[in-house]
Amino acid sequence: MSHPAIAIDGPAASGKSTVAKLIAERLGYTFINTGAMYRAITWYVLTQGIDPADTASVNQLLPSIPLSFGKDGSRSTVLYNGQVLNTELTTQEVNDHVSTIAAIPEVRSLLVERQREYNTREAVVMEGRDIGTVVFPDTPFKYFVTASEEVRAARRAAEGLTDSIAERDKKDSSRATAPLTQAADAKLVDTSDMTIEEVVDTIVADITQKLA
Ligand code: DC
Repeated sequence: MSHPAIAIDGPAASGKSTVAKLIAERLGYTFINTGAMYRAITWYVLTQGIDPADTASVNQLLPSIPLSFGKDGSRSTVLYNGQVLNTELTTQEVNDHVSTIAAIPEVRSLLVERQREYNTREAVVMEGRDIGTVVFPDTPFKYFVTASEEVRAARRAAEGLTDSIAERDKKDSSRATAPLTQAADAKLVDTSDMTIEEVVDTIVADITQKLA
């Protein structure tokens, strides 16, 4: 029997990570943060002194990248030589270059394959930009979580982060391969005026109803 895959997509700082984690906890599914996977490749490319815009060099590096994708309890992890990566993934430098790396088709196909692998073993709540459109196009559980640009910028600032989310969203939405876009059959959840609990309740109720 196949395991349920819950797809949570949306722009940066829409609240989708927080919401996806809580939905996973409620349902007892594994939370998979796909942004961390794109961030890890970006981090590694930068540590090698390679320009993220130099697609040929990035692609050359891909087969030998010493990164692996694992799990810690009920959450996905990214490991470099066996060590879990954390703060390395959210530096300003990684924020500034991750959209360039995420636009490379070869990077995307490599990661999409890894993402699907998780769901061959277990039920997942997967958060990203192309989960409902590309990774799991056939899942009936698709949610596009968004909020106004002002609300998202304020949330980012409250976390002490200053990356330019508008610019990142623009790049992520306009790339040729798997752009950030709402799947036609995804349920739109605008979180601008909702509490986290309300968002989680709304999505869990929809999933429960569909599972019944
Ligand atoms: O969710 P995040 O901010 O950590 O994602 C970092 C970047 O990775 C984001 O700007 C776009 C890219 N990304 C993507 O292209 N596809 C995904 N499924 C997840 C993230």
